[in-house]
Amino acid sequence: MRVLVTGGAGYIGSHTLVELLGQAHEVCVLDNYDNSSPVVLDRVRKLTNGTVTAVEGDVRHDNTLRDVMTTFQPDAVIHFAGLKAVGDSMTNPLGYYDVNVNGTLALLRAMDEVGCKRIIFSSSATVYGEPVYLPYDEAHPLNPTSVYGRTKMMAEHILADWAQASGGTAVLLRYFNPVGAHASATLGEDPADVPNNLMPFIAQVAVGKRPYLNVFGDDYDTPDGTGLRDYIHVVDLARAHVAALDYAADHSGARAFNIGTGQPYSVQQMVAAFRTASGQPIPVVVASRRAGDIAAMQADSSRALSEMGWRATHTLDDMAASTWAWQSGNPNGFQSEEG
Ligand code: NAD
Ligand code: UFG
Repeated sequence: MRVLVTGGAGYIGSHTLVELLGQAHEVCVLDNYDNSSPVVLDRVRKLTNGTVTAVEGDVRHDNTLRDVMTTFQPDAVIHFAGLKAVGDSMTNPLGYYDVNVNGTLALLRAMDEVGCKRIIFSSSATVYGEPVYLPYDEAHPLNPTSVYGRTKMMAEHILADWAQASGGTAVLLRYFNPVGAHASATLGEDPADVPNNLMPFIAQVAVGKRPYLNVFGDDYDTPDGTGLRDYIHVVDLARAHVAALDYAADHSGARAFNIGTGQPYSVQQMVAAFRTASGQPIPVVVASRRAGDIAAMQADSSRALSEMGWRATHTLDDMAASTWAWQSGNPNGFQSEEG
Protein backbone atom coordinates (compact mmCIF):
# COMPACT_ATOMS: atom_id res chain seq x y z
CA MET A 1 0.00 0.00 0.00
CA ARG A 2 0.94 3.65 -0.35
CA VAL A 3 0.84 4.91 3.21
CA LEU A 4 0.91 8.55 4.32
CA VAL A 5 2.39 8.71 7.81
CA THR A 6 1.70 11.93 9.69
CA GLY A 7 4.13 12.47 12.56
CA GLY A 8 6.36 9.79 11.04
CA ALA A 9 9.56 11.33 12.42
CA GLY A 10 8.38 10.84 16.01
CA TYR A 11 9.11 8.05 18.44
CA ILE A 12 6.37 5.60 17.45
CA GLY A 13 6.15 6.83 13.84
CA SER A 14 9.83 6.16 13.11
CA HIS A 15 9.65 2.59 14.40
CA THR A 16 6.49 2.06 12.37
CA LEU A 17 8.22 3.29 9.19
CA VAL A 18 10.82 0.54 9.63
CA GLU A 19 8.11 -2.13 9.89
CA LEU A 20 6.13 -0.70 6.94
CA LEU A 21 9.21 -0.63 4.71
CA GLY A 22 10.03 -4.17 5.85
CA GLN A 23 6.64 -5.24 4.47
CA ALA A 24 7.25 -3.43 1.16
CA HIS A 25 4.74 -0.65 1.77
CA GLU A 26 5.54 2.72 0.18
CA VAL A 27 5.69 5.58 2.67
CA CYS A 28 5.43 9.35 2.69
CA VAL A 29 5.93 11.29 5.94
CA LEU A 30 4.22 14.56 6.80
CA ASP A 31 5.79 16.14 9.90
CA ASN A 32 6.43 19.70 11.08
CA TYR A 33 9.28 18.45 13.34
CA ASP A 34 7.66 20.14 16.32
CA ASN A 35 8.89 17.28 18.51
CA SER A 36 11.35 15.49 16.22
CA SER A 37 13.95 16.06 13.56
CA PRO A 38 14.61 15.07 9.93
CA VAL A 39 17.71 13.23 11.20
CA VAL A 40 15.34 10.51 12.38
CA LEU A 41 14.21 9.86 8.82
CA ASP A 42 17.83 9.59 7.67
CA ARG A 43 18.33 6.91 10.31
CA VAL A 44 15.26 5.06 9.02
CA ARG A 45 16.59 5.25 5.45
CA LYS A 46 19.99 3.95 6.54
CA LEU A 47 18.49 1.15 8.59
CA THR A 48 16.08 -0.09 5.93
CA ASN A 49 17.78 0.95 2.67
CA GLY A 50 14.28 2.16 1.87
CA THR A 51 12.79 5.26 0.29
CA VAL A 52 11.15 7.69 2.69
CA THR A 53 9.57 10.68 1.00
CA ALA A 54 9.25 13.51 3.49
CA VAL A 55 7.16 16.67 3.45
CA GLU A 56 7.73 19.29 6.13
CA GLY A 57 4.34 20.71 7.04
CA ASP A 58 1.55 20.99 9.53
CA VAL A 59 -1.31 18.51 9.68
CA ARG A 60 -3.74 21.38 10.27
CA HIS A 61 -2.93 23.12 6.97
CA ASP A 62 -5.46 22.34 4.25
CA ASN A 63 -3.21 23.42 1.37
CA THR A 64 -0.27 21.34 2.56
CA LEU A 65 -2.52 18.33 2.98
CA ARG A 66 -4.11 18.81 -0.44
CA ASP A 67 -0.68 18.92 -2.08
CA VAL A 68 0.50 15.80 -0.27
CA MET A 69 -2.68 13.86 -1.02
CA THR A 70 -2.78 14.73 -4.71
CA THR A 71 0.92 14.06 -5.22
CA PHE A 72 1.23 10.87 -3.18
CA GLN A 73 -2.34 9.46 -3.63
CA PRO A 74 -2.24 7.30 -0.48
CA ASP A 75 -4.21 4.08 -0.08
CA ALA A 76 -4.17 4.63 3.68
CA VAL A 77 -3.08 7.15 6.29
CA ILE A 78 -1.48 6.46 9.67
CA HIS A 79 -2.08 9.49 11.86
CA PHE A 80 0.54 9.90 14.59
CA ALA A 81 0.94 13.70 14.43
CA GLY A 82 -0.20 15.17 17.70
CA LEU A 83 0.71 16.60 21.07
CA LYS A 84 1.04 14.06 23.86
CA ALA A 85 2.04 15.52 27.23
CA VAL A 86 -0.79 15.11 29.72
CA GLY A 87 0.47 17.92 32.02
CA ASP A 88 0.97 20.41 29.16
CA SER A 89 -2.54 19.68 27.90
CA MET A 90 -3.99 21.03 31.16
CA THR A 91 -2.21 24.39 30.81
CA ASN A 92 -2.54 24.65 27.00
CA PRO A 93 -5.95 23.14 26.25
CA LEU A 94 -6.62 25.17 23.10
CA GLY A 95 -3.28 24.18 21.61
CA TYR A 96 -4.06 20.53 22.28
CA TYR A 97 -7.59 20.69 20.84
CA ASP A 98 -6.25 22.53 17.81
CA VAL A 99 -3.52 20.05 16.90
CA ASN A 100 -5.20 16.83 17.99
CA VAL A 101 -8.81 17.53 17.00
CA ASN A 102 -8.54 20.13 14.21
CA GLY A 103 -5.56 18.25 12.81
CA THR A 104 -7.68 15.12 12.53
CA LEU A 105 -10.56 17.04 10.91
CA ALA A 106 -8.28 18.65 8.34
CA LEU A 107 -6.72 15.29 7.52
CA LEU A 108 -10.10 13.61 6.96
CA ARG A 109 -11.24 16.47 4.72
CA ALA A 110 -8.11 16.09 2.61
CA MET A 111 -8.56 12.32 2.45
CA ASP A 112 -12.13 12.82 1.22
CA GLU A 113 -10.86 15.05 -1.58
CA VAL A 114 -8.80 12.21 -3.06
CA GLY A 115 -11.09 9.35 -2.04
CA CYS A 116 -8.69 7.84 0.51
CA LYS A 117 -10.83 5.68 2.79
CA ARG A 118 -8.53 4.11 5.38
CA ILE A 119 -7.01 5.66 8.47
CA ILE A 120 -5.15 4.18 11.43
CA PHE A 121 -5.31 6.52 14.44
CA SER A 122 -2.98 6.86 17.46
CA SER A 123 -5.38 6.79 20.38
CA SER A 124 -4.48 6.17 23.99
CA ALA A 125 -5.47 4.15 27.02
CA THR A 126 -6.08 7.48 28.73
CA VAL A 127 -9.48 7.64 26.98
CA TYR A 128 -10.75 5.17 29.62
CA GLY A 129 -9.95 7.25 32.72
CA GLU A 130 -10.40 5.91 36.25
CA PRO A 131 -10.98 2.15 35.82
CA VAL A 132 -14.48 0.84 36.48
CA TYR A 133 -12.90 -2.62 36.08
CA LEU A 134 -9.54 -4.03 34.98
CA PRO A 135 -8.25 -5.12 32.61
CA TYR A 136 -9.86 -2.50 30.39
CA ASP A 137 -11.55 -3.98 27.36
CA GLU A 138 -12.69 -1.81 24.46
CA ALA A 139 -16.24 -1.69 25.88
CA HIS A 140 -15.01 0.00 29.07
CA PRO A 141 -16.67 3.44 29.45
CA LEU A 142 -14.68 6.37 28.09
CA ASN A 143 -14.15 8.97 30.78
CA PRO A 144 -10.80 10.70 30.25
CA THR A 145 -9.49 12.80 33.12
CA SER A 146 -7.18 15.10 31.13
CA VAL A 147 -7.53 17.49 28.20
CA TYR A 148 -5.14 15.23 26.30
CA GLY A 149 -7.40 12.24 26.88
CA ARG A 150 -10.44 14.23 25.80
CA THR A 151 -8.74 15.29 22.54
CA LYS A 152 -8.15 11.61 21.76
CA MET A 153 -11.73 10.66 22.65
CA MET A 154 -13.13 13.48 20.50
CA ALA A 155 -10.92 12.49 17.58
CA GLU A 156 -12.16 8.89 17.96
CA HIS A 157 -15.78 10.10 17.77
CA ILE A 158 -15.03 12.20 14.69
CA LEU A 159 -13.31 9.26 13.00
CA ALA A 160 -16.23 6.95 13.79
CA ASP A 161 -18.78 9.42 12.37
CA TRP A 162 -16.63 9.92 9.27
CA ALA A 163 -16.29 6.15 8.73
CA GLN A 164 -20.04 5.70 9.10
CA ALA A 165 -20.88 8.47 6.64
CA SER A 166 -18.20 7.74 4.06
CA GLY A 167 -18.04 3.96 4.12
CA GLY A 168 -14.41 4.35 5.14
CA THR A 169 -12.36 2.48 7.74
CA ALA A 170 -10.96 3.97 10.93
CA VAL A 171 -8.80 1.73 13.10
CA LEU A 172 -8.45 3.29 16.55
CA LEU A 173 -5.37 1.91 18.27
CA ARG A 174 -5.47 2.59 22.00
CA TYR A 175 -1.84 2.39 23.03
CA PHE A 176 -0.95 1.56 26.60
CA ASN A 177 2.56 2.62 27.71
CA PRO A 178 5.01 2.51 24.80
CA VAL A 179 8.65 1.93 25.81
CA GLY A 180 11.84 0.45 24.34
CA ALA A 181 13.82 1.13 21.21
CA HIS A 182 14.78 -0.45 17.90
CA ALA A 183 17.17 -3.42 18.19
CA SER A 184 19.73 -1.55 16.07
CA ALA A 185 19.98 1.11 18.82
CA THR A 186 19.75 3.77 16.10
CA LEU A 187 16.13 4.76 16.84
CA GLY A 188 14.52 5.45 20.19
CA GLU A 189 12.70 7.94 22.33
CA ASP A 190 14.42 11.34 22.52
CA PRO A 191 12.50 13.64 24.86
CA ALA A 192 13.14 17.35 24.25
CA ASP A 193 13.02 18.36 27.93
CA VAL A 194 12.95 16.62 31.29
CA PRO A 195 11.19 13.33 30.52
CA ASN A 196 7.60 13.09 31.79
CA ASN A 197 7.49 9.34 31.44
CA LEU A 198 9.06 6.67 33.59
CA MET A 199 11.24 4.74 31.15
CA PRO A 200 13.10 7.65 29.53
CA PHE A 201 13.63 9.12 33.01
CA ILE A 202 15.12 5.86 34.33
CA ALA A 203 17.32 5.70 31.22
CA GLN A 204 18.67 9.20 31.87
CA VAL A 205 19.44 8.30 35.49
CA ALA A 206 21.24 5.16 34.32
CA VAL A 207 23.39 7.11 31.87
CA GLY A 208 24.28 9.70 34.53
CA LYS A 209 22.27 12.66 33.20
CA ARG A 210 20.06 12.77 36.31
CA PRO A 211 21.00 11.84 39.88
CA TYR A 212 17.97 9.78 40.86
CA LEU A 213 14.44 8.76 39.96
CA ASN A 214 11.48 10.13 41.88
CA VAL A 215 9.05 7.30 42.52
CA PHE A 216 5.67 9.00 42.54
CA GLY A 217 3.99 7.23 45.46
CA ASP A 218 4.66 3.91 47.16
CA ASP A 219 1.34 3.68 49.01
CA TYR A 220 -0.97 2.63 46.17
CA ASP A 221 -3.14 -0.43 46.55
CA THR A 222 -0.77 -2.54 44.46
CA PRO A 223 1.55 -5.42 45.50
CA ASP A 224 4.61 -3.19 46.12
CA GLY A 225 2.72 0.09 46.55
CA THR A 226 3.97 1.67 43.30
CA GLY A 227 1.91 2.28 40.16
CA LEU A 228 1.19 -0.57 37.75
CA ARG A 229 1.21 0.00 33.99
CA ASP A 230 0.94 -2.13 30.88
CA TYR A 231 4.22 -1.34 29.09
CA ILE A 232 4.35 -2.23 25.42
CA HIS A 233 7.56 -2.48 23.37
CA VAL A 234 7.55 0.13 20.61
CA VAL A 235 8.44 -2.48 17.96
CA ASP A 236 5.39 -4.56 18.94
CA LEU A 237 3.36 -1.38 18.78
CA ALA A 238 4.80 -0.54 15.36
CA ARG A 239 3.80 -4.00 14.12
CA ALA A 240 0.24 -3.41 15.34
CA HIS A 241 0.03 -0.67 12.70
CA VAL A 242 1.02 -3.07 9.95
CA ALA A 243 -1.63 -5.51 11.21
CA ALA A 244 -4.16 -2.66 11.30
CA LEU A 245 -3.46 -1.80 7.65
CA ASP A 246 -4.15 -5.40 6.67
CA TYR A 247 -7.33 -5.34 8.75
CA ALA A 248 -8.44 -2.07 7.15
CA ALA A 249 -8.03 -3.55 3.68
CA ASP A 250 -11.10 -5.76 4.16
CA HIS A 251 -13.19 -4.09 6.85
CA SER A 252 -15.18 -0.88 6.95
CA GLY A 253 -16.45 1.25 9.81
CA ALA A 254 -14.61 2.26 12.97
CA ARG A 255 -13.08 -0.28 15.34
CA ALA A 256 -11.06 0.29 18.51
CA PHE A 257 -8.26 -2.03 19.64
CA ASN A 258 -6.31 -2.05 22.87
CA ILE A 259 -2.58 -2.39 22.24
CA GLY A 260 -0.83 -3.69 25.34
CA THR A 261 0.61 -6.93 26.68
CA GLY A 262 -1.91 -7.64 29.44
CA GLN A 263 0.99 -8.01 31.88
CA PRO A 264 1.37 -4.97 34.14
CA TYR A 265 4.62 -4.05 35.89
CA SER A 266 5.21 -1.72 38.83
CA VAL A 267 7.62 1.20 38.98
CA GLN A 268 9.87 -0.92 41.23
CA GLN A 269 9.83 -3.78 38.72
CA MET A 270 10.76 -1.41 35.90
CA VAL A 271 13.68 -0.05 37.92
CA ALA A 272 14.83 -3.58 38.78
CA ALA A 273 14.70 -4.65 35.12
CA PHE A 274 16.70 -1.58 34.14
CA ARG A 275 19.31 -2.19 36.81
CA THR A 276 19.81 -5.67 35.39
CA ALA A 277 19.95 -4.48 31.78
CA SER A 278 22.32 -1.59 32.43
CA GLY A 279 24.41 -2.79 35.36
CA GLN A 280 23.87 0.71 36.82
CA PRO A 281 22.64 1.34 40.39
CA ILE A 282 19.73 3.73 39.49
CA PRO A 283 19.09 5.48 42.82
CA VAL A 284 15.45 6.15 43.66
CA VAL A 285 13.75 8.58 46.04
CA VAL A 286 10.15 8.04 47.08
CA ALA A 287 8.16 11.21 46.39
CA SER A 288 4.48 12.03 46.80
CA ARG A 289 1.91 10.82 44.33
CA ARG A 290 1.72 12.67 41.01
CA ALA A 291 -1.57 14.53 40.55
CA GLY A 292 -3.96 12.70 38.27
CA ASP A 293 -2.15 9.33 38.39
CA ILE A 294 -4.18 6.19 38.85
CA ALA A 295 -2.93 3.11 40.71
CA ALA A 296 -3.09 0.55 37.94
CA MET A 297 -3.78 0.12 34.23
CA GLN A 298 -3.96 -3.10 32.33
CA ALA A 299 -5.08 -3.95 28.80
CA ASP A 300 -7.25 -6.75 27.61
CA SER A 301 -5.84 -6.97 24.08
CA SER A 302 -7.66 -10.14 23.08
CA ARG A 303 -9.62 -8.31 20.36
CA ALA A 304 -6.38 -7.32 18.60
CA LEU A 305 -5.37 -10.98 18.57
CA SER A 306 -8.69 -12.42 17.44
CA GLU A 307 -9.50 -9.79 14.80
CA MET A 308 -6.08 -8.55 13.58
CA GLY A 309 -3.87 -11.51 14.49
CA TRP A 310 -1.62 -9.19 16.51
CA ARG A 311 -0.02 -9.87 19.86
CA ALA A 312 3.00 -8.52 21.70
CA THR A 313 6.09 -10.72 21.68
CA HIS A 314 8.75 -8.60 23.45
CA THR A 315 9.45 -9.14 27.15
CA LEU A 316 10.20 -6.71 29.96
CA ASP A 317 13.89 -7.58 29.58
CA ASP A 318 13.71 -6.67 25.86
CA MET A 319 12.14 -3.33 26.80
CA ALA A 320 14.86 -2.52 29.34
CA ALA A 321 17.79 -3.84 27.27
CA SER A 322 16.79 -2.02 24.07
CA THR A 323 16.19 1.25 25.95
CA TRP A 324 19.62 0.94 27.57
CA ALA A 325 21.34 0.18 24.25
CA TRP A 326 19.67 3.22 22.67
CA GLN A 327 20.33 5.57 25.61
CA SER A 328 23.94 4.54 26.20
CA GLY A 329 24.75 4.58 22.48
CA ASN A 330 23.06 7.96 21.94
CA PRO A 331 23.35 9.87 25.23
CA ASN A 332 22.25 13.08 23.49
CA GLY A 333 19.58 11.41 21.40
CA PHE A 334 19.53 12.58 17.79
CA GLN A 335 20.99 15.93 18.79
CA SER A 336 24.59 15.30 17.80
CA GLU A 337 23.54 14.98 14.14
CA GLU A 338 21.27 18.03 14.09
CA GLY A 339 22.55 21.18 12.45
P1 NAD B 1 6.19 12.11 19.17
O1 NAD B 1 6.04 13.49 19.72
O2 NAD B 1 7.52 11.48 19.22
O3 NAD B 1 5.67 12.07 17.67
C1 NAD B 1 4.67 12.94 17.17
C2 NAD B 1 5.16 13.50 15.85
O4 NAD B 1 4.15 14.39 15.34
C3 NAD B 1 6.44 14.32 16.00
O5 NAD B 1 7.36 13.93 14.99
C4 NAD B 1 5.98 15.76 15.83
O6 NAD B 1 6.99 16.58 15.28
C5 NAD B 1 4.78 15.59 14.90
N1 NAD B 1 3.81 16.68 15.00
C6 NAD B 1 3.32 17.26 16.12
N2 NAD B 1 2.42 18.22 15.80
C7 NAD B 1 2.35 18.23 14.44
C8 NAD B 1 1.60 19.00 13.50
N3 NAD B 1 0.75 19.96 13.90
N4 NAD B 1 1.76 18.74 12.19
C9 NAD B 1 2.62 17.78 11.77
N5 NAD B 1 3.36 17.03 12.61
C10 NAD B 1 3.22 17.25 13.93
O7 NAD B 1 5.11 11.20 19.91
P2 NAD B 1 4.89 9.63 19.87
O8 NAD B 1 5.19 9.10 21.22
O9 NAD B 1 5.55 9.04 18.69
O10 NAD B 1 3.32 9.58 19.72
C11 NAD B 1 2.69 9.45 18.45
C12 NAD B 1 1.19 9.49 18.65
O11 NAD B 1 0.80 8.47 19.56
C13 NAD B 1 0.66 10.81 19.24
O12 NAD B 1 -0.56 11.13 18.59
C14 NAD B 1 0.42 10.47 20.69
O13 NAD B 1 -0.59 11.26 21.26
C15 NAD B 1 0.02 9.01 20.61
N6 NAD B 1 0.27 8.26 21.85
C16 NAD B 1 1.53 8.25 22.40
C17 NAD B 1 1.75 7.58 23.59
C18 NAD B 1 3.10 7.59 24.25
O14 NAD B 1 3.18 7.37 25.45
N7 NAD B 1 4.20 7.84 23.52
C19 NAD B 1 0.70 6.89 24.23
C20 NAD B 1 -0.55 6.89 23.64
C21 NAD B 1 -0.75 7.58 22.43
N1 UFG C 1 6.50 7.51 37.43
C1 UFG C 1 7.39 7.69 38.47
N2 UFG C 1 8.41 8.59 38.29
C2 UFG C 1 8.59 9.29 37.13
C3 UFG C 1 7.68 9.08 36.07
C4 UFG C 1 6.63 8.18 36.25
O1 UFG C 1 7.26 7.09 39.53
O2 UFG C 1 9.52 10.11 37.04
C5 UFG C 1 5.41 6.51 37.59
C6 UFG C 1 4.02 7.10 37.46
O3 UFG C 1 3.56 7.61 38.70
C7 UFG C 1 3.22 5.89 36.96
C8 UFG C 1 4.24 5.12 36.10
O4 UFG C 1 5.53 5.57 36.54
O5 UFG C 1 2.87 5.07 38.04
C9 UFG C 1 4.11 5.38 34.61
O6 UFG C 1 4.11 6.79 34.37
P1 UFG C 1 4.32 7.38 32.90
O7 UFG C 1 4.38 8.87 33.04
O8 UFG C 1 5.46 6.71 32.23
O9 UFG C 1 3.02 6.92 32.13
P2 UFG C 1 1.46 7.23 32.36
O10 UFG C 1 0.80 5.91 32.59
O11 UFG C 1 1.26 8.29 33.34
O12 UFG C 1 1.01 7.85 30.95
C10 UFG C 1 1.53 7.41 29.69
C11 UFG C 1 1.59 8.58 28.72
C12 UFG C 1 0.22 8.96 28.24
C13 UFG C 1 -0.49 7.75 27.71
C14 UFG C 1 -0.55 6.69 28.78
C15 UFG C 1 -1.22 5.47 28.23
O13 UFG C 1 2.20 9.72 29.33
O14 UFG C 1 0.33 9.88 27.17
O15 UFG C 1 0.77 6.37 29.18
O16 UFG C 1 -1.37 4.53 29.22
F1 UFG C 1 -1.72 8.06 27.31
